Parts: sequence; C-alpha cells; structure tokens
Amino acid sequence: MRLEHPVLNASGTFDAIAARRVFGDALLERFPFAAFVTKTVTLEPRQGNPPPRLWELAGGMINSIGLPNKGLRGFLASDLPELAELPAPLVVNVMGFRREEVARLVAAMDEREEVAALELNVSCPNVKTGLVMGADPGETAALLDEVRPLTGKPLIVKLTPNATSPAAVAAAAEAHGADAVSLINTLRGMALDPHDRAPRPRPWLGGGTGGVSGPAVRAMALVQVREVRDRVAIPIVGMGGVQRGRHVAELLGAGAELVAVGTESFRDPLAGERVVAEWRRDVANSGISTPSEARA
Ligand SMILES: Cc1cc2nc3c(=O)[nH]c(=O)nc-3n(C[C@H](O)[C@H](O)[C@H](O)COP(=O)(O)O)c2cc1C
Repeated sequence: MRLEHPVLNASGTFDAIAARRVFGDALLERFPFAAFVTKTVTLEPRQGNPPPRLWELAGGMINSIGLPNKGLRGFLASDLPELAELPAPLVVNVMGFRREEVARLVAAMDEREEVAALELNVSCPNVKTGLVMGADPGETAALLDEVRPLTGKPLIVKLTPNATSPAAVAAAAEAHGADAVSLINTLRGMALDPHDRAPRPRPWLGGGTGGVSGPAVRAMALVQVREVRDRVAIPIVGMGGVQRGRHVAELLGAGAELVAVGTESFRDPLAGERVVAEWRRDVANSGISTPSEARA
C-alpha cells in the first residue's frame, strides 16, 4: 500500500459515513487520513453496551461503547459501498468471539476488492478458552495460523495493552504471518457513579468497566511501541493520545511507521487534518523528510 503521509484514524473514533453527511463532498476533497480504518465489524450485529457509555477524564475518556455494529452482512450491504468512495485505502477492523468467527470475517473481506487491508482486533476473550486472544502469545499464534492462509491482503494485528507482554504477543504475531501490528488499544478502567453513596458505589458506565484513551495513555503508548519495535521487524501503527503533530513525531521516534489519531477526533472533528499539517510543518522545519529519517 502506498500512502500519502503517515497519519490514519484509530478504529472507532472517526465515522466517515456520518462525517460525509455533515461535511458533504468537501470531506472527500480534503480527506484527512492516509488510509481509513473502520470501526470493528463482528459476524453478527451488536447493540453495544447499555448507557452511559462515556466518562470524561482530565486526560481523555473511558468508553464502554461495546462495539455496536451492523454485523458482517449489514457492513457489506450498506457501509462498504459508502466507504469504498473514500479517496483512501480502506482497512477493515474485524473481531470474533471464536477463531472460526474471525476466519469467516477474514475470508469474506478477502473477496472484496474495496478492502485494502485487515486489522484484527484481538482485545476480546475467546469464548472457548476464556483467554483474551491478544493477551496471550499462544492464542495469537493459533488465531493467525487459522486466518493467515485465508487472505493475501495485509493483516494488521491490533495489540491490547492489557497483556503481560504486548511485545511477546507482537513477536508471536510476526512469527505466524502478521504483516504489521497496531497499538495501543484502550486500557481497562472504571469510574464510580458520583451519586451512589452506598459503601460500595456502583460503576458509572453501563458496561461496568471501560477503555481509557486520550492524552492520559500517550506515555504508555510510547513505551509499548518502543518495546514492540525492539522485538519485531514488521511495521508498527502507533496510537494513543495523539493530539498534535509532535506526538506523531514521538511515536515515529519510538519505532512506528504509521500513527493513528483517536480520541482527539471527538474533541476536534478536524483533528486529523490539523495533526497532519502540524507534522508536515515540523518536518519541513527540521529538514527531515521521511518517517525512517525521523526515527534515525
Ligand atoms: C469511543 C471509542 C471507540 C473505539 N472503538 C474501537 C473499535 O471499534 N475497535 C478498535 O479496535 N478500537 C477501538 N477504539 C480504540 C482506538 O482505536 C485506539 O486504539 C485507542 O483509543 C487509543 O488511541 P487514542 O488515545 O488516540 O484514542 C475505540 C476508542 C474509543 C475512544
């Protein structure tokens, strides 16, 4: 895949179909991201978690959205034709609750020429083993052994930071055929209901716990990207708390080839365009012209 610049959107944080309704074709003329990553698609439709789904933090937010989506058939029938009109390669993010489900999603996406690459969201438990697929190197290896033969498209494994060693999981992904890894996904967190005075106040979020994202996680993203870079040779998509052009440079410096903007797009819907412009300006001022030069 040839990309115009190193900045993508993080899955689930930029709804290109809704944005096109708001911005019209101006979105296509000035599309901010070098590739577009979809929200997670599961085999069956999902409603997501009960509300409330968001809790604002001083440094970001906790979400328990719960991956609502139309399911594979709904995605192929209604979202894919619209997303295919975007002027950027399409990366479809998929997740399953058993390996066979992931395999069916990968096989279905492999048949669609509109899909440039696949991102596997492995932050969910395998209902058969009870282990989070991306928290255990053996689980990740077994998943890739099942799905790698099903597609020639680039396969990106999205690592969870809620693992003992994301670098060990990345190494397993690389050894079993992943073309790239992306990190970090959200960190587990909880907020308590401020109105509940019981000795053991209830969680605020409908899902109980949620995922922490935004500026608060940037330091964790940096260390994990660096540790993964020290273990694997495949490309890394770095993300976590990117708000400014210099945060792109930092993640590239930690070892990423590409960087994604996530939570910041909720605060500033034009964040993608702004972050790319800031990064380009910094690069022009420093005389550095490529991500690999930025890393050197
Ligand atoms: C509201 C929200 C929804 C998200 N949905 C998904 C998703 O569907 N699939 C996924 O792999 N990651 C999802 N993520 C995680 C982001 O893609 C990203 O990994 C994480 O938020 C860290 O980046 P950030 O701090 O820049 O947001 C979501 C994050 C947020 C805040």
